[in-house]
Amino acid sequence: MSESQTPYNLNELPKVAQCFPVEVHLKAGKTYSWCTCGLSRVQPFCDSEHKKLGYEENGELKLPFRSLKYTPEKDESVWFCQCKQTKNPPFCDGSHNKEAVQAKHAQTP
Ligand code: FES
Repeated sequence: MSESQTPYNLNELPKVAQCFPVEVHLKAGKTYSWCTCGLSRVQPFCDSEHKKLGYEENGELKLPFRSLKYTPEKDESVWFCQCKQTKNPPFCDGSHNKEAVQAKHAQTP
């Protein structure tokens, strides 16, 4: 599949799924997959929607986004980012408060 055949515009990603974080209760030793593209319908986690972004280049499959794996060492409650603009993924760093992030959210369906 070429880039132009994907149902999404790569230049607009990652999508701002929500302009606020979500508290998640995690179990020690369990691996969680945090969505990096913003397209998952089970935010903040990955539902493999990013695989629709795959395209072939020089005979090689390119995936511009992959989920980020996180495995806590102890049971914990943390705030996962849903705007996908954090500089400390998968955790919220307050980036969702930036005007540019809120504007991007308002522009995307
Ligand atoms: S929700 Fe993304 S930085 Fe807060």
